[in-house]
Amino acid sequence: MLKVNKLQQAEEALRNAKEKVKGCYRLGYHIMAPAGWINDPNGLIQFKGEYHVFYQHHPYSENWGPMHWGHVKSKDLVHWEHLPIALAPTEAYEKDGCFSGSAVDDNGILTLIYTGNIFVDREKDILDQSQCIATSTDGIHFIKEAANPVISKHPEEGSGHFRDPKVWKHKDHWYMIVGTRKEDIGKVILYKSKDLRQWEYLGVLAESDGTKGYMWECPDFFEIGVKHVLLFSPQGIEAEGEKYQNLFQTGYIVGDFNYDTLEFSYGEFQELDYGHDFYAVQTLIDDHGRRIAIGWMDMWESPMPTKEHGWAGALTLPRELSLTSDGKIAMNPVSELEKLREKSIELFIDKIDNESIDTGIKEELLEIKVDFLLKDVTADEFGIKLRCNHDGTEETVVGFDVPSFKLFIDREKAGKGVSGVRKSKVELKEGTLSLHIYLDRSSVEVFANDGLNVLTSRIYPHTSSLGLQFYAKNGTVHIGDLNVWKLKDIWKESK
Ligand code: FRU
Repeated sequence: MLKVNKLQQAEEALRNAKEKVKGCYRLGYHIMAPAGWINDPNGLIQFKGEYHVFYQHHPYSENWGPMHWGHVKSKDLVHWEHLPIALAPTEAYEKDGCFSGSAVDDNGILTLIYTGNIFVDREKDILDQSQCIATSTDGIHFIKEAANPVISKHPEEGSGHFRDPKVWKHKDHWYMIVGTRKEDIGKVILYKSKDLRQWEYLGVLAESDGTKGYMWECPDFFEIGVKHVLLFSPQGIEAEGEKYQNLFQTGYIVGDFNYDTLEFSYGEFQELDYGHDFYAVQTLIDDHGRRIAIGWMDMWESPMPTKEHGWAGALTLPRELSLTSDGKIAMNPVSELEKLREKSIELFIDKIDNESIDTGIKEELLEIKVDFLLKDVTADEFGIKLRCNHDGTEETVVGFDVPSFKLFIDREKAGKGVSGVRKSKVELKEGTLSLHIYLDRSSVEVFANDGLNVLTSRIYPHTSSLGLQFYAKNGTVHIGDLNVWKLKDIWKESK
């Protein structure tokens, strides 16, 4: 009875909170909760032909609190439908929240594997975390396993910081990785099971050498091409020049994994997204064999002016991953997102000569694809200014610094609460810098250089700052293909 009540209570709180949510930063085509707080994407899966995404959710306020799992689904990765909250913390082993985790299809039973969180001493950061499961046959209503937690205690190599299980099947076994730490060494540990209930501990898959963070959160592990990739979100990597600028990072290591010896030999940690707001990414593989990633489009402790409007947090667009021959992950928006295009906007610019060109476009939801030709470039900087106002006091700049070959996003004038510049060094194969930009009411996602340089940032401009400009400084740059589309608001459409 108690469990039903907690879910109903949460739904009711959400219904009331929804009434108070105000509009100006609400996103038009990204996953958000109806109201309240969200962080990590959880349980990404294609189940019975539909894409399901769960997320860490606090339906009772716009601040982080005892974690629930919110839930949306979609037939096409573009149009999302809210479903009832899937998990609420009802049991002693998860009394302080149902933390992040993953989902598998166990012969038609949608099985969520998540972390039961207990704060032993929150001030001292002492936690007692365990791994739990919940199952559903309709993909909507979940029953927690009576035998939870299925892994009640961390191994010797870990500690009570023991969270974010990601499970997958290989041949006839299930495998699980979990993020943990021992003192100040972040790591990912590996388990194996026949039935998702009894788990055998296999050892450490990968760990920090002392410079790559004190805790590794939200691991994901998969084969891509002939390689294995471990994605994770390390806490505690020191900033190094322009690298590792955010409070915490999200990145990957590429290597070779042998299921017989359980050895994973791997290379350097590389960041996955260079913007201000990208964390806790998770992936799924779909029935087209695509490896699709979705991240939390925020960062812990970032300014979130939407809290004044009763909500906080959103997820990134779904991105298809691929691995280049030199061991880098490229991320590109899934092709289904073309369905968002409502109208193509005609624009002819073939050259920018030490000027800012006002396109006359005034829109909140845009997709921009542009090729800057670098062959004869004489400008030392060029790019696009988004969400500009008339006197230049508000703008978000997506630019390219020619001498350093760095792509950047500059939020110094991007609206309420935000600031800072993030940069990403571009290594071009040919002489064209292609940018593919998705602009939503309070977010920008820049995919450049075939998905090798991605920058994701939240912005909070004034509703009247709607201009779009192209600029070049101290010289010229030529433009090849240029396409701009006004995009649909999927949430307004579904009302
Ligand atoms: C990552 C994280 C996870 C944890 C969850 C709690 O952002 O800290 O490690 O499970 O958020 O909401």
